[in-house]
Amino acid sequence: MIDTATIRIEKTAQSRINELDETNIPFGQLYSDHMFMADYVNGEWKDLRITPYQNISISPANTTLHYAITIFEGLKAYRNEAGEIIIFRPQANAQRLNISAERMCIPEVPEDLFMDALTELIKLDSSWVPSAPNTSLYIRPFVFGTDEYIGIRPSQNFRFMIITCPVGAYYSKPVNVKIETKFSRAFEGGTGFAKAGGNYAASLYPARLAQQQGFDQLIWTDGKTHEYVEESGTMNLVFIIDGKLMTAPTSGTILKGITRDSVLTIAKEWGIEVIEKPLAVKEIVEAAKAGRLQEAFGVGTAATIAPIGKIGFEDETFELPSPENWTISKRILDELNAIRTGKKEDTHGWTYKV
Ligand code: COI
Repeated sequence: MIDTATIRIEKTAQSRINELDETNIPFGQLYSDHMFMADYVNGEWKDLRITPYQNISISPANTTLHYAITIFEGLKAYRNEAGEIIIFRPQANAQRLNISAERMCIPEVPEDLFMDALTELIKLDSSWVPSAPNTSLYIRPFVFGTDEYIGIRPSQNFRFMIITCPVGAYYSKPVNVKIETKFSRAFEGGTGFAKAGGNYAASLYPARLAQQQGFDQLIWTDGKTHEYVEESGTMNLVFIIDGKLMTAPTSGTILKGITRDSVLTIAKEWGIEVIEKPLAVKEIVEAAKAGRLQEAFGVGTAATIAPIGKIGFEDETFELPSPENWTISKRILDELNAIRTGKKEDTHGWTYKV
């Protein structure tokens, strides 16, 4: 049993909050004053502490440096109209972290430890939650093996950490994506559903090749046939075809996005037809060619709802209608923003007040 009441707090002597310019916040470059840490030793989470944000020291033989025994989460805190701080669906992130943990032989982080750590850290760094439109405090919990051992085995010791950074938009313009039909992100039986560091590392080279061709990101397809659309490098994907909202079902190869779930829930409640089915590349390409692909967007914590500008497939590129005229994604984004900022009642229990 963990005594989460005993989080030791060492406050910074000198806040860096004056480095924050809410009118210009690049993603992931400025970190708030404090961070949370706990260590898993002898089968127990111990030494729960919040310290000034700082570098950490690890052995050159650290197992994670060699074998990527690491998982992470992404969630956001917002400032509502009353100036209070709201975190969006943190319990869902705690649960997903533990789904990833099991796959990577990482011990469970109990939900009360996750929530207490998060609450104390955000309370302490509350001045870092921005209030300008389209800004938030991005929260990055992560767990990694800390064994000093270069043999292959599950780590026995771990660290759980949370760091936070104020952010603006992840994508500041429509994202141009290429449908990837050679490289694979995930396979049945692999780790595609887990938010594991290695999944992202392995995606970088194919994404770089696409970036050299002028795209921003990839649309991954299934590893077996490359005939079905899965997810993008930084977000799940949604397509509006003939007024219907279509997305690939989350499975062993696709991350179970929390923003994705929120978007589908809202759309269903509004009576929009939501179709979760294996989405053939052919179907998307034919709809794009025929002008039936009305909207396409990524959904994720960092990306929020990111309109897609162009889709590349083989030697062709299809341009989507201008996002300014999109109705469904815009309406859903407005609804999510209204819930997060307290302008609309949260009927789903998605908001957590710090
Ligand atoms: C998130 O959306 O929170 C993610 O973890 C994606 C990452 C590429 C920034």
